[in-house]
Amino acid sequence: MYLSNPTLATDETYVPGLSREYIAETFGLPVADVAKLGSAENPFGPSPMAHDAVSAALSQMDIYPNWTAEPLREKIAAKYGYRPDEVICGAGETEIISWIVRAFAGPGDGVLMYEPCFPMYHLSADAENRRCVYVKMGAGFDFRIDEYIAAMDETVRICFLTNPHSPSGILMDNDDIGRVCEAAGDRLVVLDEAYVHFSQTNGGMDLLQSFDNLIVLRTFSKAFGLAGLRIGFGIAKPNIIRPMLAMKPTWNMGQLQIAGGIAALEDDAHVDRTVAMIVEMRAYVTERLSRLNSFRMVPGSRSNFFLVECLDPAWDSTRVFEALQEKGVIVKDCSVSFRGLGKKYLRVDVSLQKHMDRFAAALSSLEDGGA
Ligand SMILES: Cc1ncc(COP(=O)(O)O)c(C=O)c1O
Repeated sequence: MYLSNPTLATDETYVPGLSREYIAETFGLPVADVAKLGSAENPFGPSPMAHDAVSAALSQMDIYPNWTAEPLREKIAAKYGYRPDEVICGAGETEIISWIVRAFAGPGDGVLMYEPCFPMYHLSADAENRRCVYVKMGAGFDFRIDEYIAAMDETVRICFLTNPHSPSGILMDNDDIGRVCEAAGDRLVVLDEAYVHFSQTNGGMDLLQSFDNLIVLRTFSKAFGLAGLRIGFGIAKPNIIRPMLAMKPTWNMGQLQIAGGIAALEDDAHVDRTVAMIVEMRAYVTERLSRLNSFRMVPGSRSNFFLVECLDPAWDSTRVFEALQEKGVIVKDCSVSFRGLGKKYLRVDVSLQKHMDRFAAALSSLEDGGA
């Protein structure tokens, strides 16, 4: 009724993961026992260096930060081999995704993405009255690159890719990413690499050397363990960065974010330890779930989560999601959190062994207890 901007077409909002405290209170469990496996956070938390840097930056709370987070841009640029004017920082990747949709597509223009995909792509596009164009992934969550390229009609202005993909965790081939960039021409290709550390590859960032229509997004929320601080960044040619600088809320990054991000980039050992644990636990939980009959892990994840498919028609994803909560396990019900997956899938984080054990035992007990 009060909406005076007719291009703001939807009021659909993000569905967040549940909190440990909610589950502990609802089911009478100790908070520490709850396995929170629905938000792909780092169970080790942030680097102690980042923690100390944020504490030290509290003394700067009364001072406006640099409006482009320049010290952090410089650090990111030096770390990855780019210039500061090729870097933009946002309150998480999520903020940058919303600018991309506004800056690079007009009302009614197409925004291309896979189904399923990270919901912020279509939530941002729908909210701004851009037209979502979906390409269904293959049966094994393969990328069907020919179909993706064929969907680039003349209205499409932005093409979203996720590497590794969420929710499947499957890694894209750099040749395929290059084919998309080539075919996209003057459209913007957005390569979201929120989870790239867990693939133990460099992902597709080097393709920035070959393609001027590419922006690579990364986040501090996952391997760096700073989801609560809200830091993400994009790297692209300055002519892609500049329009977003012009439209972003001027002081979007505070002193604490700038200080924490810089320090996190200095602690490679923390990231390495995190990745090593995730890789080890991914193999561990793969083995444990291989013993089940009613459920199956979708193979091929190179991320810090994986999909579980319900094979027994008596169990749909919402029933499993609710039954796991009673056993102190939080996962993502894909029928609520991802478009196009129906009622068959759950997304589950890879985490500490005690959480993997709780999850595997809970799933197994559902199977044993029958529907
Ligand atoms: C694919 C993908 N990209 C980006 C993000 C969000 O990152 P940020 O916390 O930097 O906004 C997520 C968060 O879950 C994600 O799954």
